[in-house]
Amino acid sequence: MAEKRNNHGYPAGWAQVDPANVDHVLRYAVETFHPRLTLASSFGLEDVVLIHRLIAICPRAPIFALDTGRLPEATYECAERIGRRYDVDIEWYFPLTEDVEQLERTKGLYSFRESVENRKECCGLRKVEPLRRALTGHDAWITGQRRDQSVTRQALAVLERDEAHNGMWKFNPLANWSLDEVWSFVREHKIPYNQLHDQGYPSIGCAPCTRAVQPGEDERAGRWWWESPEHKECGLHR
Ligand code: ADX
Ligand code: SF4
Repeated sequence: MAEKRNNHGYPAGWAQVDPANVDHVLRYAVETFHPRLTLASSFGLEDVVLIHRLIAICPRAPIFALDTGRLPEATYECAERIGRRYDVDIEWYFPLTEDVEQLERTKGLYSFRESVENRKECCGLRKVEPLRRALTGHDAWITGQRRDQSVTRQALAVLERDEAHNGMWKFNPLANWSLDEVWSFVREHKIPYNQLHDQGYPSIGCAPCTRAVQPGEDERAGRWWWESPEHKECGLHR
């Protein structure tokens, strides 16, 4: 059945949703798109908040994670704790074996440090290609992006079209939340979280591309710290 739209091109009913209310947004996403809706989790602080709320609304909502093969141990531990607490099966996606073998044989294990181009190549095969498979068969996805996170996300909308993925819908329910608000929610609801957050890591990606930030530094300063801020997107989000 063709998706119904309102006059502004958004899915029908979106105009009645309060985009500042994360529960309204998630309930609308579920009612409009489930089961062709999926949540992308890196098990960062934002994602565990979204899992906590989404599962309360839709206990069997699909949740996927991209295991790049280079994630920190603490991320796997967090994923296990979340899986147990919410009784969810995470759909893990792994890069294609032959792509990783080819990259590591020809360019070594740290090619991503040599140039932005090499870094995007590694993110491309470890994240972007698996993401394409994870989104196949879905009409909408949910992410934990926030505007405050970086210069590249300042114009982020709560609902947007994902032109990189056939124009499917992309919900960013925490777009307007601050890091303090995310922490308050996690503490109030005693949600399991990645232990690296307690060691100076506000943003966590692959182990060799993430480090702790210094007090006063930007939230994503520890991601690909050798690159300038405007390059710091890996291709999951454009
Ligand atoms: S990234 O593009 O720089 O890696 P970031 O770490 O800020 O993204 O995370 C933003 C959102 O992208 C997360 O809240 C999550 O929805 C999604 N995301 C990032 N990394 C992954 C991953 N490994 N698996 C699934 N989703 C991810
Ligand atoms: Fe590769 Fe680093 Fe990107 Fe992970 S974050 S996919 S290790 S370049």
